[in-house]
Amino acid sequence: MSAIVISGKELAKRLREDIRIRVSKFIEETNVVPHLVVILVGDNPASVSYVAGKQKACEETNMKSTLIKLPVETTEEELIKIIEELNSDHTVHGILVQLPLPKHIDEQKIINTISVEKDVDGFSPVNVGKMVLNEECFLPCTPAGVIKMIKETGIEIAGKHAVVIGRSNIVGKPVSQLLLQENATVTICHSRTIDLKHHTLQADILVVAIGKPKFVTRDMIKPGAIVIDVGVNRVDNKLCGDVDYDGALEVASYVTPVPGGVGPMTITMLMENTLAAAKRFTR
Ligand code: GUN
Repeated sequence: MSAIVISGKELAKRLREDIRIRVSKFIEETNVVPHLVVILVGDNPASVSYVAGKQKACEETNMKSTLIKLPVETTEEELIKIIEELNSDHTVHGILVQLPLPKHIDEQKIINTISVEKDVDGFSPVNVGKMVLNEECFLPCTPAGVIKMIKETGIEIAGKHAVVIGRSNIVGKPVSQLLLQENATVTICHSRTIDLKHHTLQADILVVAIGKPKFVTRDMIKPGAIVIDVGVNRVDNKLCGDVDYDGALEVASYVTPVPGGVGPMTITMLMENTLAAAKRFTR
């Protein structure tokens, strides 16, 4: 079997075109340009690259973006003050603080400072709570992108056994929740799981987000599974995912590549959230 590759790049391109049209219509009707502010503390190369991707996507979708670059020694108090100013700036609709932050800054405290209405990452406790309750909210971008990619296969999620490897606040936990809302039966595996392969071999849908290059090998994948690789690892100066891609291609029915898989979809969902934030603000 040779799996079908779900190209996040292609899907993101299509979705961004649609967002661009809706943004233009919104601007025409309201004279308001959706505006995302991204804060980058320090110069972690991966973060610099992600932030550049977010700015490019704003350009592509006709939205305004502002990048606030802060030195690595910025204090927690200074960062909080900047966020509070952005919270009360009516020309700003979305605020995103690129993670990870330097160790001397408490990430959750920073996330909690961002106004819930501008939390386009969907990371604040209120947004997380609303997501769990299935209320209107900003869905976290990577999990929302993962669900869109699974839906792109045309295969019904309801009733399927979805296995998620990883339990981070950004991906593992929320993607499990969204899969549950789609009526999958969900297993969450993590570093303390015993006999991981026993679980992964039962997965009709396997979502991998652990940050270990090529960790999931061919023998761990159920034949015909949908494999979504959220990992982005740099090995010998090349990007690769958490899944052995070539092995997965042989056994799965659908696989996402790295790069060009989940990454572009995450950013596209951020654009969707920023437009939604601007709309809520103006209605
Ligand atoms: N770092 C890695 N992924 C993300 C994300 O989705 N949002 C933010 N703010 N930081 C990240």
